[in-house]
Amino acid sequence: MGSQHPDRNLALELVRVTEAAAMGAGRWIGRGDKIAADQAAVDGMRTMLDSVAMEGVVVIGEGEKDEAPMLYNGEEVGAGGGQQVDVAVDPLEGTRLTALGQPNAIAVIAVAERGSMFFPGAAVYMEKIAAGADAVNAIDINASPTENVNAVAKAKGRRPTDVRVVVLERERHEDLIGELRQAGARVNLIRDGDVAPAIAAARPETGVDLLYGIGGTPEGVISAAALKAVGGGIQGKLWPRTDEERAALLEAGYDLDRVLFTDDLVRSDDVFVAATGVTTGALLRGIRYVTGAAITDSIALRSRSGTVRRIEARHTLSKLAHFTGREY
Ligand code: FBP
Repeated sequence: MGSQHPDRNLALELVRVTEAAAMGAGRWIGRGDKIAADQAAVDGMRTMLDSVAMEGVVVIGEGEKDEAPMLYNGEEVGAGGGQQVDVAVDPLEGTRLTALGQPNAIAVIAVAERGSMFFPGAAVYMEKIAAGADAVNAIDINASPTENVNAVAKAKGRRPTDVRVVVLERERHEDLIGELRQAGARVNLIRDGDVAPAIAAARPETGVDLLYGIGGTPEGVISAAALKAVGGGIQGKLWPRTDEERAALLEAGYDLDRVLFTDDLVRSDDVFVAATGVTTGALLRGIRYVTGAAITDSIALRSRSGTVRRIEARHTLSKLAHFTGREY
C-alpha cells in the first residue's frame, strides 16, 4: 500500500459550519416555531460555509430555489479555491424536535467529490436499513424484518432480544414495528430525525443496532456519507407515496426496484461529514448555554482515514456576535 502525506481534513472546517447552524437553531429550542428555528440554522450555516475554501455545489439542500432562498439545490457555496465538491446540507435535521424541545435534533453537512452524490430529485421518501460495520453484511432491505433481526443478532453474537432498532413513529410503520417486536427486537420509536440514529447504529456506545423504515431520501444520502466514514452502511429503495409520484419517478428514469447501497448513494471514497447536536440524542449532546457562552458537541468524520473526532467547543457569545454580526 502506498503512503500519502497527511493533507487537509475538510471535516474540521465543516464543524464550524454545523456549530454555527446549531447555535442559530439553539435559541429556538422549545419555542414552538419550527420555521424560525430552521431559518436561523440556515442563516448560521450559510455565513460560515462561505469561509470554507472549496468549490461546492449544493446537491441536497433546502429545496428549490424559489421556495428556499438559501442553500437551494444547485447553489454554489464555499469560498472557492479548493476542491470541487458536492455538498449535502441539513442545517436543522429535526425542525419539529427543536420547536418542541425534544431530543435528537442535529445540524449536519456532508461533502464529497463533485458528481459523486445521488440526486434524489422528486424521490421524497426511501425505505432504509442502516447498520454498523459488524452487521452491515447481515442486513438486506429485501429480506423481512424478522430475517434482518435474526441476521444482525447472529452477526453481533447476541440474541434477537438484544437487537435495538430505531424506527420513526409513523402510521406507515405499524406492520414493521409489529413484526420487529414479534421477532424479539427492542424498538425505539422516534418522532423525527433519522440521520442521527443511522450514524448511531455504527457507534457501539450509543445503544443503537439498526435504523429501519421509511424516511427522507436526502437524509438517506447524508446518512450514507456518514456511514462511509464511521464504517457500516445503509441500503435504500425509493418509496413513492402515490401513483403520480411513482409515474414521475419512472419518467425521470429512477429504478424503483433497485437497491441503493452506500456506494450508490455516495460514490466517492473521499467524504467529509460534520454534525453538531441541537438537542441531546443518542449520537450527540445538545447545545448548552452557560453565562456568556454556548457549549456545542460535534462529530467530524472523514472516510479516507476513518477518523472519528468528537469536538466540544465553548463559544463566547459576545465575541461571536462581534465577528459574525449575528446574535446567538
Ligand atoms: P424535519 O424536516 O422537520 O427536520 O424532519 C426530518 C425527518 O424526521 C427526517 O429525519 C426523516 O427522514 C423525515 O423527516 C421523515 O419524513 P416524515 O416526517 O414526512 O415522515
